[in-house]
Amino acid sequence: MDFQEIFPGGVNSPVRRYDPHPLIIKKARGPRIMDISGRWFTDYCLAFGPMILGHSDPAVRDEVIRQIDDAVLTGTPTLPELNLAREIKEAIPHMEKIRFANSGSEAVLHSLRVARAFSGRKKVLKFNGCYHGANDYSLVRNSDGSVIPSSPGIPGEVSSTVILSEYGDRTGVERIIREKGYEIGAVIIEPVMANVGVIPPDPEFLIFLREICSENDIPLIMDEVITGFRMRYGTYSQMLGVKPDLTVLSKIVGGGFPLSAFGGRKEIMDIISPEGPVYVAGTFSGNPVSCAAGFATLKELKKKDYNLLNRMVEEISEDIVSYITSSGKRYSFNSFGTMFQLFFSPEASSYSSILRSDRDLYMKFFRFMLERGIYVEPSQTETNFLSFSHSDEDINALRDSIKTFLRSLK
Ligand SMILES: Cc1ncc(COP(=O)(O)O)c(C=O)c1O
Repeated sequence: MDFQEIFPGGVNSPVRRYDPHPLIIKKARGPRIMDISGRWFTDYCLAFGPMILGHSDPAVRDEVIRQIDDAVLTGTPTLPELNLAREIKEAIPHMEKIRFANSGSEAVLHSLRVARAFSGRKKVLKFNGCYHGANDYSLVRNSDGSVIPSSPGIPGEVSSTVILSEYGDRTGVERIIREKGYEIGAVIIEPVMANVGVIPPDPEFLIFLREICSENDIPLIMDEVITGFRMRYGTYSQMLGVKPDLTVLSKIVGGGFPLSAFGGRKEIMDIISPEGPVYVAGTFSGNPVSCAAGFATLKELKKKDYNLLNRMVEEISEDIVSYITSSGKRYSFNSFGTMFQLFFSPEASSYSSILRSDRDLYMKFFRFMLERGIYVEPSQTETNFLSFSHSDEDINALRDSIKTFLRSLK
């Protein structure tokens, strides 16, 4: 029996699929993954973001093994939950109270319910191209002026509670809030769009969103599932001095294990059951092994120099952008913090421009890199990540291979 026979599309999450068959990975250490044939690849996917210390970081591994020896899952409060929550709150003080869940999708779903219950309003304002997981409120798209499900199986009634706008469109948001603000129970945004490749953020727009949400008593949810602890020890909102009402974290804070967290203003979080009436629950929520992995990861990250890692990505970016410009190629290279992506499109500054980039050519690029032992994202609309385990040699090989591929194009 093979993958294709037993799993729909041969995988357990769609973006893992590429033709003819994704690599089957047996081992992962530091910046590298090894497939079942024994070939190693330098990894810039990093499990779609979480593995910022590299794979199987020794400190995280030791802590996980120690925790498994102690207790795996008990359905009672455990100390690793408290350790991780305290560390998160110390790093992000506006997460005054925290609730753990298991995935980004789940934490977003809960945070939307909590924000709606707190504000007493039904609708959610979200932004095209911002991904908030595979839950019914996030999988929406515009069609002839209406918001409809972007996947079959989602009732149109659910999607009709979502209003869509464009990231950066201040006038559009002002109009929506002027006309429908009394119905909007939450505004949710990915502060840095990182599920369309990556697009550098618009700080003024995010500051404006904070202001307009405060003026209209609308809870603002920052989805920092990718950006939390990715370019600094904390969130991107903190870099802007913006305090969202609720923040969603996942990926890095789970240290490679299933874990997410949402949290924010105490008066909002206190409406969650059993303190309040809003039902949010989970058998695995606050899993001690995930929390121990997350806590060990944050302790390690605290010692690291994020500026150095951000600068390494900036340098690759400057080099490749200058190569693209000087060689007259009509491609783009975006980066922000420790994230980067190449686009086969002359412009990549907005979601709509990224949709026009050549995805077939991207897959040729992906296969070219694979042949050279480099595993970049298997999709144009994901972002690549750098970890603290990548070396200067790894980065030079990455940069040379990207340029060699670009040079080979007419
Ligand atoms: C910004 C953002 N929010 C939510 C999610 C959903 O997280 P998960 O895949 O853990 O459900 C993702 C996943 O990539 C994400 O990038």
